[in-house]
Amino acid sequence: MLKAAVMAAAHIQPCSLIWIITMAACAKTPDVHVTCIFSMDCILPCHFKPAEGEVIHWYRKKALVHSFYNGSDVLEQQDEHYRGRTFLFQGQFAQGNASLLLQRSGIEDKGRYRCHVRTALGDQESYTIAKVEAPIRTMQMTSPSGYEEVTCSSQDIYPAPQLFWSTDPPAPLGAIKPTTRKMADTLGLYSVKSMQKRLGNLSDFTYICTLNSYYGTQTWIASLRERAIFSVSGKGLTIPCLVPMKFHNFTLTWTLTRASKTEVILTYDSLTRQISNRWKNKARLDPNLVLTGNGSLWLQNLEQSAQTETYTCAFSAFQIQQLVQNHVSFIAAIKGGNQSNLWIIAVVIAALALCTAGVILYAKQRGDHSQLSRTTEDATEIQHMMNEGGNNTQANNQAL
Ligand SMILES: *[C@@H]1O[C@H](CO)[C@@H](O)[C@H](O)[C@H]1NC(C)=O
Ligand SMILES: *[C@@H]1O[C@H](CO)[C@@H](O)[C@H](O)[C@H]1NC(C)=O
Ligand SMILES: *[C@@H]1O[C@H](CO)[C@@H](O)[C@H](O)[C@H]1NC(C)=O
Ligand SMILES: *[C@@H]1O[C@H](CO)[C@@H](O)[C@H](O)[C@H]1NC(C)=O
Ligand SMILES: *[C@@H]1O[C@H](CO)[C@@H](O)[C@H](O)[C@H]1NC(C)=O
Repeated sequence: MLKAAVMAAAHIQPCSLIWIITMAACAKTPDVHVTCIFSMDCILPCHFKPAEGEVIHWYRKKALVHSFYNGSDVLEQQDEHYRGRTFLFQGQFAQGNASLLLQRSGIEDKGRYRCHVRTALGDQESYTIAKVEAPIRTMQMTSPSGYEEVTCSSQDIYPAPQLFWSTDPPAPLGAIKPTTRKMADTLGLYSVKSMQKRLGNLSDFTYICTLNSYYGTQTWIASLRERAIFSVSGKGLTIPCLVPMKFHNFTLTWTLTRASKTEVILTYDSLTRQISNRWKNKARLDPNLVLTGNGSLWLQNLEQSAQTETYTCAFSAFQIQQLVQNHVSFIAAIKGGNQSNLWIIAVVIAALALCTAGVILYAKQRGDHSQLSRTTEDATEIQHMMNEGGNNTQANNQAL
């Protein structure tokens, strides 16, 4: 201890002396900033004018981080916190490189480091400011049916990120009042969980959760929309899902949630262009259509279920998650249907027929070919199900 103190004092004095004689020798080089990624190795740079007989000391405040003199590392006085995690590149000393390798950086490692080098030329000092960041790596958005809230969460982040909610279309002023909790674990990493009450009816809004890292290096976005779909049991069903097209590396996963159990139906990987389909020929996704932004799932002969079944289309790419939850409920086949169901079906069919006719007429009048193909496709899609969501194309695109 005493030795360390004496050594430290010995370093300061010659430096001050030289400071008076020549500004250049001890001139303050500007602080170097580095960002260490949590749990990864990190190099704290330090440069000096190379000369014989280097005596190198690295400090953080009063703590001795690493020492080198008489041709070898001297670590007896090293602070406990850095034990076994620091290295100097002796082979680089001749180039004036006294950078410190800090292994497995942790949150406690952040701070201002002093690199002190004494050579035959005198004393040189420089500072490195180390930030530590545990980047956002995942994000989850859920909206369990039967609950009032949409939940957005993420884990193992440092420093604590900022989380924002928005909706598409924009919610009335003051309607977005989330409850957000940030908690640090024993390593100092934060988990964040935020809940926002659902607004309006099921398919009125797309909920968008934005997670910004503290240093502004990352923005993650998750979005969720929901819609109700009515299906006639025993019939095939196409459930639409639009996929943002600007991403090259993404996965698309269709799941079914029934009685609060979730099973994966199929997964599409954009890199391999492979579909792993657990439902075999009961479900189908066209890999060529996915490339054009159409991730619709085709289901064969849905069996009638008393409960609502939720078919979720989850798009996941780097920094972006998009969930579309389709709540499918069944209208009994006409044969077994009761009075009110028959009535609903009749109205729906009549409305759809009118709608389709109107849409075709309108498109024809416009003479716009692309418009025609799009709207008629949408119309046929509607015939397979009653989409309460309305024009979701726009909403999805805007959300991203
Ligand atoms: C280096 O070693 C020599 C002898 O081996 C010793 O006299 C000298 O004090 C040492 N230098 C330091 C800075 O301890
Ligand atoms: C100093 O040496 C280390 C280890 O070889 C290297 O990673 C670093 O880039 C060097 N710094 C400079 C400025 O050359
Ligand atoms: C939406 O909710 C309102 C009440 O908040 C209700 O009057 C309306 O009928 C609902 N619309 C639909 C399409 O369910
Ligand atoms: C694709 O994305 C995943 C997760 O976002 C990532 O782990 C992987 O390294 C990426 N692959 C390529 C080739 O970019
Ligand atoms: C998406 O593909 C399905 C067939 O899998 C088709 O029925 C549907 O009309 C297409 N939707 C759009 C918007 O292109």
